Amino acid sequence: MTASPETAGVDTDLSDLDLFTAGPPWAAFDALRRQDPCHFNPERAPNKGFWSITRHADIVAVTRDEATFSSEIGAVNLEELDADQLEIRRSMLETDGARHFALRRLLQRDFSARALAPFETFLRGLTATTLDAALPRREFDFVSEVSADFPIRVLVRLLGIPDDHAGQLINWGNRMVGNTDPDEADVLLDSPESEQYRNLPFRSPAALEVFAYGDELARQRRGGDGADLVSKLVNRTPEDGIPLSERDFHNYFLLLVVAGNETTRHTITHSMKALIDHPEAFATLKERPELLPNAVEEFLRWASPVYHFRRTATKDVELHGRTIRAGDKVVVWWSSGNRDASVFADPDRFDITRDAREHMAFGKGGPHLCLGNQLARMEIRVMFEEILRRVDSAEQLAEPKRVRSNFVNGLKEFDVRLIGA
Ligand code: HEM
Repeated sequence: MTASPETAGVDTDLSDLDLFTAGPPWAAFDALRRQDPCHFNPERAPNKGFWSITRHADIVAVTRDEATFSSEIGAVNLEELDADQLEIRRSMLETDGARHFALRRLLQRDFSARALAPFETFLRGLTATTLDAALPRREFDFVSEVSADFPIRVLVRLLGIPDDHAGQLINWGNRMVGNTDPDEADVLLDSPESEQYRNLPFRSPAALEVFAYGDELARQRRGGDGADLVSKLVNRTPEDGIPLSERDFHNYFLLLVVAGNETTRHTITHSMKALIDHPEAFATLKERPELLPNAVEEFLRWASPVYHFRRTATKDVELHGRTIRAGDKVVVWWSSGNRDASVFADPDRFDITRDAREHMAFGKGGPHLCLGNQLARMEIRVMFEEILRRVDSAEQLAEPKRVRSNFVNGLKEFDVRLIGA
């Protein structure tokens, strides 16, 4: 039986997706941090269960130590892959050491705050267009009208593809990342039908369409001198001298399409909800917009849009009196670390003036720290600069609908009334 988020304790099954449709299981995370910070969570066969790491300091230690907690020898989510599947589906997320470094470095400079700065004008224009279309209606679904399309429209510009392809990319992203939600997935991840797609990322047939689309872009841009991310991917050689294989390119391109899409969307939606739930914070930010960069860090901590990532133990290791065995799945719950009272005083209080920079929304401490973190921060800041300028009062019209997932903490529908200034 599914526990309710309020009453959940250490034995709450964090692989139970229905638990998460009622909201993040904060009480379970709290109990785990206090009572059993390295807890074994059994799973339904054939999966073999995983260790839940829930304290901020332990999560940092695990993600820093890739020699013991590898991203490469297993998947980085709960799915259990055989060696062939892992090899076929491997992106930089599932790569350790020097090769990971080389793959990351291919685009790292392009995602720096300095490289992205000239892009702010475009972002502001896009935000203005989005809000100009939505706000006159006063009552609308914030997700479909404001937050859903924005991150992908940004990515479309970075990839140098026509604006009217955004809808297609959004569709692919939703079908892949929503692979545990019946409203989004072509085939549900845990259904027998998904077996035929076992070698595809997210076990989703949408991945094939993304690969074909990426191939066509690569064909057009190879040998050119374009400044877009696809041109850079196909024309640069990684620093280790090993060129991207066709498979490397597919998985890199797909990662770019999915990584920044739902994550940024959900952060924006959660942040809007937080400001509606805390009108005093809304009023403060309207009066003092210079507080927004600080508030964005609290938005990210509060939203915790990615619940977890996984590592796999390379050897037997002791943690808090438990023995993690070589090959075991070790799950770092970023969302739990974001509510750890030893780092964030009164962590269940939304406080735009606190110093929330230790949050783990983008990961923390390890080599896989989100590559798009500066871009995401800029998108969220610009979006709320424009919302705060244009909106005087905001109300929630209904409880938001949640994505059925223990991977993304997502709101898929959020009816609001926003009255313009
Ligand atoms: C609020 C928005 C976002 C959140 C919460 C988020 C969160 C994360 C997290 C938790 C990780 C894994 C960290 C780890 O395992 O240590 C990650 C990795 C990554 N993210 Fe993001 N992300 C966001 C936006 C973006 C954007 C906009 C992009 C780019 C378009 C992006 C690209 C990536 C990539 C490429 C990786 C893999 C990095 C690596 O393996 O070295 N993300 N992100």
